[in-house]
Amino acid sequence: MLPKRRRERVGSPVGAFAASALPSVRFPDVAIYLAEPRMGRSRRAFLSRLARSKGFRVLDTCSPEVTHVVMEQTSAEEAQRWQEARTASGPAPPVLLDISWFTESMAAGQPVSVERRHRLEVTASRDSPPGPSQMPVYACQRPTPLLHHNTHLSEALETLAEAAGFEGSEGRLLSFRRAASVLRALPGPVTALSQLQGLPYLGGHSFRVVQELLEHGVCEEVERIQSSDRYQTMKLFTQVFGVGVKTANRWYQEGLRTLDDLRKQSQRLTRQQRAGLQYHQDLSTPVQRPDAEALQQVVEVAVRQTLPGATVTLTGGFRRGKLQGHDVDLLISHPEEGQEVGLLPQLLLRLQDQGLLMYQQYQRGGEPSHIVRQGHTMDAFERSFCIFRLPQPPGAWKAVRVDLVVVPISQFPFALLGWTGSQLFERELRRFSHQERGLRLTSQGLFDPEQKRVFHATSEEDIFRHLGLKYLPPEQRNA
Ligand code: CTP
Ligand code: MN
Ligand code: MN
Repeated sequence: MLPKRRRERVGSPVGAFAASALPSVRFPDVAIYLAEPRMGRSRRAFLSRLARSKGFRVLDTCSPEVTHVVMEQTSAEEAQRWQEARTASGPAPPVLLDISWFTESMAAGQPVSVERRHRLEVTASRDSPPGPSQMPVYACQRPTPLLHHNTHLSEALETLAEAAGFEGSEGRLLSFRRAASVLRALPGPVTALSQLQGLPYLGGHSFRVVQELLEHGVCEEVERIQSSDRYQTMKLFTQVFGVGVKTANRWYQEGLRTLDDLRKQSQRLTRQQRAGLQYHQDLSTPVQRPDAEALQQVVEVAVRQTLPGATVTLTGGFRRGKLQGHDVDLLISHPEEGQEVGLLPQLLLRLQDQGLLMYQQYQRGGEPSHIVRQGHTMDAFERSFCIFRLPQPPGAWKAVRVDLVVVPISQFPFALLGWTGSQLFERELRRFSHQERGLRLTSQGLFDPEQKRVFHATSEEDIFRHLGLKYLPPEQRNA
């Protein structure tokens, strides 16, 4: 421990806030400097507060006292140049570290020992091509394109994930899904098992599946599942609009097997499920991109008639570049906060009058999700799950599922990020925020539970920056 007088001087000159709220310095041998270039000012301020609240010394200037320089999204070469450009350096130059050292230390509540992987050091090995050890663990830390090199393998693992979900095994569902996603992110096809070494989530069961596929072209377990009565029925039922795994399972246990079996029990079905069955044929045919764009335009016209200046944004899979999808996801907003209030019910009436809605289920907005209980993942926007009537020349039409979501402009970047998906990408992004940053991310905001404070963002890029993640455009979020 430092003598009391010295302790008062260390820390930062950020004024009364810091001085009154800070615990004493617990690790006097460590003085951190967070180098700003790639970090951004607000994130740097946040990380500084976090570290200080845990008893770390964080200096605001890179004085000779500094022992650990932490950088984010910075290559070893850049770090080296940064250090060379500095004139003032102490008796022993500070060690240049990647943000991973910082986050691990925050998680541990004490400075973790500096290992090679933390160091920003120019070494010979950097010339070797990126190998499995470069594959980051979280899907939100790596680009995943729509078209990739391992479709056959990832689809097999997705089938196993889906089947695990039907049995209520959330853990197995996630491990298979994460493994499939890692394969989608690889720069080339897997042709030998050795290529799996060091890849996250590709141990155990997933490893054996890939092995079988490489050796025999098929995986016995996958084939067996796909041809099973259980899998086929659960798939059929859960694809009906308004039917989840629990309901599908109950019906399966009761011996129901076909859509006609369900239609015979019409009185037990919800209004949503009845609509799902009624339009099943259309709804189980993928929506094509031109149809999605046509629907966006139809909604745009009706939205402008209801509220001039309001905007309609196509999100979900189509924003990620998919050419087809199971529905059309549209975000509705207005550049002036508050103008959007009351818009949705009026819009729905207008669309109804125009004969464009075959079904709609209005859901009013709730409390912002960060003040609702932890673990409550549903966001609280005003929304409607609809079935639209899309004219198809000549004189025909087709039923299309559309999600309409109304978003106040202040929350728009979060909603856009949250509704663009993929579902696994979103899940991983929330998990990363929570586990690596101690922050809670929803489609409505990014919330710091310790500081009881919400981050403001004007773009998706802002949110990635706050989280210390490299920005990924929508086409690279097909995790
Ligand atoms: N989503 C959400 N809340 C919901 C439903 C969906 O936040 N109640 C998010 C999902 O996490 C997903 C995005 O909205 O990231 C789009 O969902 P969905 O339409 O189900 O998936 P897509 O990726 O668009 O796939 P598809 O092309 O099959 O529609
Ligand atoms: Mn969608
Ligand atoms: Mn949707």
